[in-house]
Amino acid sequence: MGTIVVLTGAGISAESGLGTFRDKDGLWTKYDLSEVATPEGFFHNPGLVHRFYNARRANAAGAEANAAHRALARLQRDYQGEVVLITQNVDDLHEQAGSTDVIHMHGQLSGALCADCGARWPAPREMQPETPCPTCDGRARPDIVWFGEMPYQMERIFDALAQADLFVAIGTSGTVYPAAGFVAEAAQNGAETLEINLEPSGGPFDRILTGPASKVIADWVDAMLSETPGRETRA
Ligand code: OAD
Repeated sequence: MGTIVVLTGAGISAESGLGTFRDKDGLWTKYDLSEVATPEGFFHNPGLVHRFYNARRANAAGAEANAAHRALARLQRDYQGEVVLITQNVDDLHEQAGSTDVIHMHGQLSGALCADCGARWPAPREMQPETPCPTCDGRARPDIVWFGEMPYQMERIFDALAQADLFVAIGTSGTVYPAAGFVAEAAQNGAETLEINLEPSGGPFDRILTGPASKVIADWVDAMLSETPGRETRA
């Protein structure tokens, strides 16, 4: 059995009611990302940045995992090989669906990070510029990777891409690097590549399945698991 590396983006959470970034009505059509998703934006107007992420946190708290998240959790559980799940999403819907060991390369809404000393702690529901770091009393920020910052766990991700037999990108526009480069990296390492999206992103994939994630992923996972005996059915 081979190793499957899955990369998810905002499209997988769209049917859970969480908006994407670049689709019609996406977040980046309503907000200036340089104001709310960069270290410079936080420095200039921390109140605006906290309001933006407080709203994201409130939305995510009310959202439920959909059939696509659940299908991927089933793949992780029942596939005989390894399934590495990397997400650009900052919600916890993969975990809600039962996935474990999810690599949140862009951070998580549930985390707080000290802009001064780097301490991490669970984010309160609402953060303000006055929210103090419990370690040094410094400036608390959401534990989100902003533009210009290095995504998390890159070493582990590149190790996984080196091992991948199949790389699958789900619901991501492929516009933000380094994630957008994973398909080329995996292909160069000999992996087959598959995109699942409402419409093709234009990335260099071997195969593309189009349609809403909840339907297409559930069908794809069924097909993957029927190709090989699942863990549940092994003696
Ligand atoms: P985007 O908003 O750029 O792209 C969302 C993708 O999901 C598009 O390609 C849509 O076609 C697709 N999509 C929408 N609804 C779908 C559905 N129901 N089923 C399947 N696909 C669907 O979001 P990302 O690619 O995730 O980073 O954005 C990448 C990063 O840019 C985010 O992690 C975020 C953002 O700025 C940071 O904030 C650091």
